[in-house]
Amino acid sequence: MGELIYRPRRLRRTAQLRAMVRETRLDASNLVYPLFVCPGEGVRREVRSMPGVFNLSIDQLVGEAEDARRLGIASVMVFGLPEQKDERGSEAFAEDGITQRAIRELKREVRDLIVIADTCLCEYTSHGHCGVIEKGDVANDPTLELLGQTAVSQAQAGADLVAPSGMIDGMVAAIRNGLDFAGFCDVPILSYAIKYASSFYGPFREAADSAPQFGDRRSYQMDPANVREALHEAELDVEQGADMLMVKPALPFLDVIRAARERFSLPLAAYQVSGEYAQIKAAGQLGWIDEERVMMESLTSIKRAGADVILTYFAKDAVRLL
Ligand code: PBG
Repeated sequence: MGELIYRPRRLRRTAQLRAMVRETRLDASNLVYPLFVCPGEGVRREVRSMPGVFNLSIDQLVGEAEDARRLGIASVMVFGLPEQKDERGSEAFAEDGITQRAIRELKREVRDLIVIADTCLCEYTSHGHCGVIEKGDVANDPTLELLGQTAVSQAQAGADLVAPSGMIDGMVAAIRNGLDFAGFCDVPILSYAIKYASSFYGPFREAADSAPQFGDRRSYQMDPANVREALHEAELDVEQGADMLMVKPALPFLDVIRAARERFSLPLAAYQVSGEYAQIKAAGQLGWIDEERVMMESLTSIKRAGADVILTYFAKDAVRLL
């Protein structure tokens, strides 16, 4: 008895002691709630592979964002399902595009809500890739101009931040130039700086109807095996003027989040993507795991790894438990 000097269990004895020494806390103000806006009115269509996530027409979207805001969630990220798709993804940068209209309405109707626009073409192109296609692949430089136009149209609609997600080389500089030239020098860029060509995006592509019609995204998004390259990617985006960085997906890449946190001083976001959400939901529905606890443990782990901001489809469920 008594021969042990250190007994870590001493500080775990009660809930109060555990709370006192807890190192990581989730906070509603750090969560971003992704939303999918679609044409029509009164539409609230559940995504098959993402129970609890819906395609929402603008009227429904506003209600959903109001709910989130009431719960204390600071921010939403808007993804649009356009009426029409074409080769260049024209509706991505149309003044009256679905996303632009949704952003206008959110800014008009929901007080103090931070609205982030996903700045990418893949939901709007007929081929489902993140840029214009030349010789069977995404052509980098011709895509830059369209991304600049897209960001400007989103800022004109009232977006508080723009978030380029296509991993097109030079996208941050192109968007910064476009925004500044149009008079939006105060609109920050949250760059999906480190985005892997991941299989965890499957359910999103159903939700946003954005699956590539040929090939995949491995020629422009990152190989999941690489972490040094991830830091190089982030460095390039910092040099181009990114205001915030993102790692995506989150849980399979906690080491990357940690590495980015240690290297860069900009605020860091992580995206708990659709496949991460679907796994937890599915196993929860089967009764194989405790959905709520696994959700909170995953989000806490993402924050502990170094993310300041977390994008998650669980945002509303999580804040109810805080
Ligand atoms: C691109 C974009 C995607 C996601 C966020 N932005 C889709 C993709 O890269 O295929 C995926 C998010 C998720 O899986 O939840 N506009």
